[in-house]
Parts: sequence; C-alpha cells; structure tokens
Amino acid sequence: MKKFLNKTELSYHITSLKAKGLSVGFVPTMGALHNGHLSLVNKGLSQTDIIVVSIFVNPTQFDNQEDLVKYPRTLDADVELLKTVSDTTIIVYAPTVEDIYGDNIESQSFTFDGLEHEMEGAFRDGHFDGVGTIVKRLLEIVKPNYVYFGEKDFQQLQIIRKLVELNDIPVKIVGCSIHRAEDGLAMSSRNARLTPEHRTRAPFIYKTLKTAKTKFGTKSAQKVTEWVEVQFKKQPLLELEYFIIADTTTLKPVKRKSTKKTYRAFIAVYAGDIRLIDNIALK
Ligand code: PAJ
Repeated sequence: MKKFLNKTELSYHITSLKAKGLSVGFVPTMGALHNGHLSLVNKGLSQTDIIVVSIFVNPTQFDNQEDLVKYPRTLDADVELLKTVSDTTIIVYAPTVEDIYGDNIESQSFTFDGLEHEMEGAFRDGHFDGVGTIVKRLLEIVKPNYVYFGEKDFQQLQIIRKLVELNDIPVKIVGCSIHRAEDGLAMSSRNARLTPEHRTRAPFIYKTLKTAKTKFGTKSAQKVTEWVEVQFKKQPLLELEYFIIADTTTLKPVKRKSTKKTYRAFIAVYAGDIRLIDNIALK
C-alpha cells in the first residue's frame, strides 16, 4: 500500500494517476479506523479507481485539549485494516501537523450560512472553523473527483456541502449512511475509550432515537424532546447534552412541523467523559 507523509509527493503521485485517466475518491479521517470508515472507503471504491484516505488528527477542530491529547493514534493498525479492503487501490496520506499547518496552527474563520451556529457549533466552540480549514486544505492537496463523508456527522456533511459551494471547489460530495454495531451503537473512534459499563449502556442512544422517530409521527417536536429528556434522566450512566429535532437543510430546530420539509433528530450524550453523537432521519 502506498503511504505518503508529505503533501508535495502525494499531489505529484495523484497528478500522475489522473494523467492516466484514473478517477480519484477521497475519504478524510482522523484515524483509529473502524468499519464505519471502511464503509466510506468501500462506497468510494465502487465509484472511483483510486481512494485516498487521509489520517490526520486535526488539532484546530478540538475545543477540548484533553480530547485532542487522548484521541487514539493507531496508524500501523489503520494501514493494516485498509489493506484488508485493498492493497493496490487505496493510498494513505498521513501528514504531520507541520505538513498541513507549517508553524501556524490556526483555523481560518468561516461562515456557512448559519449552519455553524447550530448543535455541535453551539456546544463546541470553533469546531467547524477547524473542520472547514482542514477539509479545504486537504481538498486543495488531493484534488479528488469525489469526496466521502458519513451521515454520522450529519452537520459536518452539510457544512462541507456549503464550504464546497461557497468556495467553488470542483468536487462531488457523497454522503454515506451511518454504520452501526450490531446493538445499534453508531461506530466511532471514541467507542474504544468507553468503560465496559458505559459501552453496555450506550446502545440506549440509538434505541431512544428510533422511538423518538415513531413518536414524531403523531407528536410535536417539543413533546418528543421532553419525552427523550425524561428517558435520559432515568439513565444514571448517560448524560444528555442535547436532543434537537431540526430541519435537514437549515439545521434550525423545528418550531412547527411542515409536510414540505424534512427533519432529522440529533443527539449528543456523555457516557462518562466520552461524548457520543448520533442522528436519525424522521419522516
Ligand atoms: P472522523 O471522525 O475520523 O470521521 C471520518 C469520516 O468517517 C467522517 O466523514 C465521518 O462522518 C465518517 N464516519 C465516522 N463514523 C462513521 C459511521 N459509524 N458510519 C458512517 N460514517 C462514519 O469526521 C472527521 O474524522 C473529521 O472531522 C474530518 C472530516 C476528517 C476532518 O478532520
């Protein structure tokens, strides 16, 4: 498997592949890869000749320094896992912080038509400036034909769509469905840090989302939200940070349901000191 640590060498290689007429897909990640990431890689390989997977724990998108320090870094295992998918059609780009940021580890400031103020934006200061900065830089380096993002981070996906639109970046964005463990917990690199007790309780998050979806068929967003809040009060090991039913496009919380709009329920929960997020499409 080809592995690059340096953007100049990577972009030189990609240019030569494109010159041969090959299409290039891109899956940006922060590593600690799991089957959720692999589902994006597989989707990419079904549509393009070559997939570039970046593995980079981006310092500017962490609002919590401890979370950045504790973020799992497992490059060798990540490469081995990718090899099980394909040794020849996947390229790994694992840059250093310096390769990306030089000596200026700062994010650019963005506006994404207000999407950045909702949910994760409200609870994680500067997070989407960091995400916008790294994804824009990576897209400039890789110049892929397609880029793949998971609906697991649905707000991030919508923000990247806006980033690409506002900056006229020539790439097609593909949103990929959420990959879950058998018990329903959305796969996440953070799951590895859950205690056994918290891991046992964590599937409650998706279970509650599914019931909330059913209830939203007949009840208002406010009633469903109140119901969810009560359920989490009864769960000693899980602390609800937010549950919000929002418009899929604007991500603004729904006030009154309209049949012309589509909605999604979004949730953030602390399991001990591990923060988990999930979401579900509503009818
Ligand atoms: P990371 O959390 O590593 O996720 C990389 C990609 O994998 C994201 O698009 C995310 O939505 C997707 N993903 C993670 N878990 C998933 C699951 N269970 N099912 C489907 N897709 C899943 O998101 C980031 O990294 C970073 O913010 C990044 C975009 C790389 C910028 O630094």
